This record gives sequence, C-alpha cells and structure tokens, in this order.
Amino acid sequence: MAVPAESSSRKPLLAIERLTIAFRGNPVVRELSLAIQPGEVLGLVGESGSGKSVTSLAILGLLDSAAEARGSIRFDGEELLNLRPEAMRRYRGRRIAMIFQEPMTALNPVMPVGRQIAEAIETHQPTLTRREVRNAVIANLHAVALPEPEKRYTDYPHQFSGGQRQRILIAMALANRPQLLIADEPTTALDVTVQAQVLKLLRDLQQQFGLAMLFISHDLAVVAEVADRVAVMRHGWLLEQGSREQIFHTPRHPYTRSLLGAVPTLETDRALPLSTLPSATDVLPGALVEYDIGHQVRALS
Ligand SMILES: Nc1ncnc2c1ncn2[C@@H]1O[C@H](COP(=O)(O)OP(=O)(O)O)[C@@H](O)[C@H]1O
Ligand SMILES: [Mg+2]
Repeated sequence: MAVPAESSSRKPLLAIERLTIAFRGNPVVRELSLAIQPGEVLGLVGESGSGKSVTSLAILGLLDSAAEARGSIRFDGEELLNLRPEAMRRYRGRRIAMIFQEPMTALNPVMPVGRQIAEAIETHQPTLTRREVRNAVIANLHAVALPEPEKRYTDYPHQFSGGQRQRILIAMALANRPQLLIADEPTTALDVTVQAQVLKLLRDLQQQFGLAMLFISHDLAVVAEVADRVAVMRHGWLLEQGSREQIFHTPRHPYTRSLLGAVPTLETDRALPLSTLPSATDVLPGALVEYDIGHQVRALS
C-alpha cells in the first residue's frame, strides 16, 4: 500500500529539503527533497530545463543573484543555502568539488594545466611545500590515467583532447579529496567511446576514494552506468526516486518509463501502464508517495 514519503532516517552527507528556486516568481525547482549518503552515487536525470543544473548551483552557492531560493540544503549537518560567500568558500572546491560538461570553459586557456591543479591544491592546503604540491599534482594526473603527466605538466589546455581535458578537470576536482563530487553532464560533450572511458574512470575513482557523487545527466542510460540511486526530475518536480534496480526494473511513473523507452532489456511488466505523458501543468499537484522502501513516485493528479 502507498504511504506518504518520509525522508531517510540514516544520516546523509547531503540533505536537500523542500528546495524551491524561482526566477522572477517562476519556480524552476519545486519542493525538491533529495539525500545522498556518504560514498553513494545519486543520479539526477531529466530532460533539458528540468532544474538539474540550478539545483547543483544552489548546492555550490553559485546561483544567479536573480534566483530566489528557499528550503534547506544541509551538508554534513550544516546549512548551505544562503551561506555567506566567505563561508561557502570553505566548502567549494574542498569538501564539495564539481565537474561540468564543457572542460574547456572550466580551464584557464593561458595557464599550464599542472599549474592550474597546483593552484587548486594551494588554495585549500597552503602549508604544503612547492615540491609537495607538484608531487600531488602528478599523483592526481596519474590517478586519472593521463599519459606522461611529468612531461605534460607545462602543456596548455588546447594541447589536450576533449577526453584528456575532462580527465584533467577530474584530477583538479579530486585534488583536495572532497567528500562530495557534483558532476553535471560530465560526458555529454564527449564522443561515445571517450564517454565510456570517462564514466568508468569516475566510477573507479568514486569507489577508490569512497566519494559521494551527484551525477547529473539528461541520459538515463548514462546514469545507469554509475548511479546507486536515481532521481527523475521534470519541470522542477521530482517525479520518481529509487534504487537503480527499482528505477530500471520496476519504474512506476510514465515519464520514467518514457525515458527508459530507448533501453531495450528491461523487465517492465510490473510497472504502471504507459499513459499519455503529463504536461507541465498536469504534474503539478500530485503527492509524492512511497511504493516500496526507498522508492518514491509522484502520483498523477
Ligand atoms: N539565470 C537564470 N535566469 C532565468 N532563468 C534561468 C536561469 N538559469 C536557469 N533558468 C531556467 O531554469 C530552468 C532550469 O534550468 P536548468 O537547471 O539549467 O535545467 P537543466 O540543467 O535540467 O537542463 C530552465 O527553464 C532555465 O531556463
Ligand atoms: Mg543542465
């Protein structure tokens, strides 16, 4: 029987509660509640414009000043929403790191890549010697399997391929050993073969470092490669959330089922019949209900 959804009773590393974000009175994220446990990968999936990036920017304190945000975002128990910029800097790049879709825009084109990673380390670990910083940079570039990091330390971003640049950004993100990595469409700009390599690398590093990860993608097949749990958003609403198995084997919401339509090998017989997809306004008032332990679905109104 369906019962009202409750937040997890375990102690999450990141707990988003009833987060609403609006631009000029238009909500783009609505009453969103999500939690990520230490070492867990939450995949956040939804079509373009569903509010995924805005959510990740809110966690990092990087929302546009025009955005109005309310609700709660707690990291390791501390409230991050509307934290003062100086206070936010203690988290960003250190305990919470990020990688984005387009590695070129995140790298400084006129600074050697080794120096860029060195600066990321120096900012948060100012007591390290130059040699220690350099060794840490090289070790991190080895960890992301960049070929010959000692030789390529002084090369500039344009001297690397797209996949290599994303590896460099991953090395930079992990340089201060964060507890949470936010990866927003990290492989979307890469071709398919390189995408698979970068996904495998992220998964390996996540396990090696016991890293929690918010992995954002418009592509459910990509999310399936890395996520322990999956949350599906549309028009700012959380429509369904569950373990990877629940979402892929027994998806309940028609929108989730439509996203899965391109993936052929699923056992979907226990799912709801696929009715006409709700429009932006149709999905509005349904309540989030728990169908199974950890499996929440927004009722169709
Ligand atoms: N700075 C902004 N000002 C006004 N609207 C914005 C701004 N940033 C994002 N939006 C709107 O918020 C909605 C969600 O955007 P976004 O989180 O980027 O979607 P996604 O990452 O899921 O593709 C979109 O309708 C987008 O147009
Ligand atoms: Mg986005």
